[in-house]
Amino acid sequence: MTRSTLNTFRLYATGKKTVPLTVEKYPGFQRDDKYKKLTSTDVDYFRSIVGDTGLIYQNEDDLEAFNTDWMNKFRGQSQLVLKPKTTQQVSDILKYCNEQKIAVVPQGGNTGLVGGSVPLFDEVVVSLQGMNQIRSFDDVSGILTADAGCVLESLDNWLGEKGFMMPLDLGAKGSCHIGGNLATNAGGLRLVRYGSLHGTVLGIEAVLPDGTILDSMSTLRKDNTGYDLKQLFIGSEGTIGIITGISILTPRRPSAIHVALLGVDSFEDVQKAFKQSRIQLSEILSAFEYYDNNAFQIFKKHNDARSIMDNEYPFYVLIETSGSNKDHDEEKLNTYLEDMMTDGIAQDGVVAQDESQSKRIWGVREGLTEALGKEPAVYKYDISMPVSKINDCVLEMRDHLEQGGAFGKPDSPVIDVVGYGHVGDGNLHLNIPAKSADPRVLELIEPFLFEWVSKQKGSISAEHGLGISKNQYLSYSKSESMIKLMKTFKSVLDPNGILNPYKYLPTK
Ligand code: FAD
Ligand code: MLT
Ligand code: ZN
Repeated sequence: MTRSTLNTFRLYATGKKTVPLTVEKYPGFQRDDKYKKLTSTDVDYFRSIVGDTGLIYQNEDDLEAFNTDWMNKFRGQSQLVLKPKTTQQVSDILKYCNEQKIAVVPQGGNTGLVGGSVPLFDEVVVSLQGMNQIRSFDDVSGILTADAGCVLESLDNWLGEKGFMMPLDLGAKGSCHIGGNLATNAGGLRLVRYGSLHGTVLGIEAVLPDGTILDSMSTLRKDNTGYDLKQLFIGSEGTIGIITGISILTPRRPSAIHVALLGVDSFEDVQKAFKQSRIQLSEILSAFEYYDNNAFQIFKKHNDARSIMDNEYPFYVLIETSGSNKDHDEEKLNTYLEDMMTDGIAQDGVVAQDESQSKRIWGVREGLTEALGKEPAVYKYDISMPVSKINDCVLEMRDHLEQGGAFGKPDSPVIDVVGYGHVGDGNLHLNIPAKSADPRVLELIEPFLFEWVSKQKGSISAEHGLGISKNQYLSYSKSESMIKLMKTFKSVLDPNGILNPYKYLPTK
């Protein structure tokens, strides 16, 4: 069974709103004059590398998709997009940009949620979409090597025909690139089962800002020679090199997948259901997700959804099992659900009977991002913390906004405070839809939320990264000495600062 593909059409395709320039939203930023402004000589040089069809220059309509992010929150002003087809072309581009001090934004599928994939000013966008070939696959070890611009879902479909699957999955899979996944260290829906990319990625090929091609395309599971350089690129958000190739360990595709939805009265019970799922479903558990009823209401507002359950509950838990023995897995899941109901942990439970029911259950969970994106404005946070604190965070933010006069009355700017996320990973997606992008609301949320997370010894970004949204707040998650070392790495690898400027590391 394959899961539904979320509609990953870009939100601006709905014609909903004109996106303000990022620099208008973050007025503190000035274009750094150390970066050269493009000349026609530069454009001619790039044309000599990628050819006429490999670039878009000064065509506002064609540039829009590369200047604007998926959520319609950030907009840059690039006049040039380059679409190299080979690693050598990427190398030639970066070498020239480094010599000329031309700023560059690497871009994958442009589904990132923190503004990292789009420029602020006139940075040149280097899109990897032209580099989308599978390089090799070993069906004994399950090791896949591919270009960084391969779309995650295409890779998964290709592997599916061979009985394998990608070890990560996310709602943006129809658009995001595997290179973008590495660059953001994407987590997603199945991390609880298959672990993080820091474990599954075996090698990378990356081009450094000076054009050096770093070939670390290992296909070895074990290699203890020297510093593990690939790890530095995983989660580096395009700031130290452009990833052009990946080598990744892929698991066997399970032949039996089951999906269930529970209706639960309290977050205490969500935790109990999780704890018990690890005992009773153990090796077949492949996802444990939750969303609260407020998140569900936003989904319903924007979707013509038939209810999956007869009644509504404060919390919903989505459980997926993946195994190789349908009857055995079904029996395990049914026993687990019966126990949840008998023990009063779940008030209701539904097991999908076919693929279309599975798709409907997953469709709500995966559709939350898109639904929230259709609100006039939404403040999005992806934070990690001990599982026990997840709903406290939502409740405390509601209180805080209410006390600050921003929530709770018909004329309040905040529409709601909703929570969903990857329970198994201690990852909350706290989302605050609002009637408009209101600086007063933002001032109430930040840094209050980051201070709260820091007190729980959590992280201000569990999976979406820093980009332009969180870079100034890095100190809430990393110590001064760690940030200093990060800045040292950056200056050694990118001394001219050409790669993804203004983002990732604190600039203030
Ligand atoms: P982009 O958005 O193009 O880029 C993201 C960052 O990586 C930028 O800083 C960019 O400069 C850099 N970059 C991109 N490609 C390269 C490259 N080849 N070399 C160097 N740097 C590069 N994220 C999760 O972690 N978990 C989820 O469950 C999840 N679900 C999502 C659901 C939806 C509906 C959407 C819209 C997004 C979701 N995301 C999720 C966020 C996003 O999809 C991921 O961060 C994804 O990994 C980004 O991949 P991309 O190819 O779109 O990268
Ligand atoms: C998710 O888990 O749905 C994604 O990370 C996207 C989001 O936070 O909305
Ligand atoms: Zn997520």
